[in-house]
Amino acid sequence: ELPSRVTIWEVGPRDGLQNEAATVPVDVKLEFLDRLAGAGLTTLEATSFVHPKWVPQLADAEELLGRLDRRPGVRYPVLVPNERGLDRAVAAGVGHIAVFGSATETFAKRNLNTSVDGQFAMFEPVLARARAEGMEVRGYLSMCFGDPWEGVVSAEQVVRVGKRLLDLGCSQLSLGDTIGVATAGQVERLIDAFVAAGVGVDALAVHFHDTYGQALANTLAALRRGVSTVDSSAGGLGGCPYAESATGNLATEDLVWMLDGLGIEHGADLDALVATSTWMAQRLGRPSPSRVVKALAG
Ligand code: HMG
Ligand code: MG
Repeated sequence: ELPSRVTIWEVGPRDGLQNEAATVPVDVKLEFLDRLAGAGLTTLEATSFVHPKWVPQLADAEELLGRLDRRPGVRYPVLVPNERGLDRAVAAGVGHIAVFGSATETFAKRNLNTSVDGQFAMFEPVLARARAEGMEVRGYLSMCFGDPWEGVVSAEQVVRVGKRLLDLGCSQLSLGDTIGVATAGQVERLIDAFVAAGVGVDALAVHFHDTYGQALANTLAALRRGVSTVDSSAGGLGGCPYAESATGNLATEDLVWMLDGLGIEHGADLDALVATSTWMAQRLGRPSPSRVVKALAG
């Protein structure tokens, strides 16, 4: 059964720009966020409070949030890995954060310099404090389908680690296909495994990268299972600097085109999104990989 409405969780300003070789000037980021809000998107993942040496592209998080013109009705979640990141987020007046864990040991080490258990020790005080401050906390889980170093990741392993994130107090779990290797049957099986383990589909979101061109098919599989929050990035920007062979996220425009065809409400203005991604492509000096942007930009 398809949902009647989908929440688009726009990750372009964070997942997209964190992977650009060139650091995008803060003025361009601010205009990007403003254009995305103007296009009707209501969840804009703005930046990350991670170590600036690990992700120099987002080292301007304080300046960005200090200058951000927050629009009413729009939420601007940010990524926070640890208590130091939470301190920075609190100081910046953030009301919504996301912690990001790994389903596999290798990626926990490469992305967070810890282990699967170690990441929970890191997140626990973050969740406790953030929730005491009244913040909402999303949990990301990376490498839910395949890992470049460990190969196929089993649904049992993903459900085990994902449930720990929910048990810590995350209000939503975003299932990440970090390197874009998932296929639709695997997506159905993983969602079914979560449901069998007592997790409602309303607590799940999906986060697909389009490396193998499967992101939209995987999204449809998740929608058919009742998932109604979908992560995407305008123009298909993105990747992950700590995962080899990861390319961009599902493009927001590709998602919107499909949702329109299915008659599913989302609130975004496709023409405004295409104009934004065309503008951003000019800033980055390369065309958007999104098929819908290519088709509509003329
Ligand atoms: P570490 O080196 O183990 O850090 O890195 P540490 O705790 O040992 O601290 C070392 C120094 O860093 C200390 O400073 C800390 O204060 C400082 P010193 O005392 O030496 O002067 N420090 C910080 N500074 C600023 N902000 C912070 C912070 N934390 C410590 N938050 C750490 C551990 C988690 C910090 C590091 O591994 C890190 O920053 N990792 C982030 C990696 C990242 O951002 N990856 C991309 C996002 S995940 C993703 O894209 C996947 C996703 O899209 C879903 C999917 O597709 O699967 C979400
Ligand atoms: Mg990602």
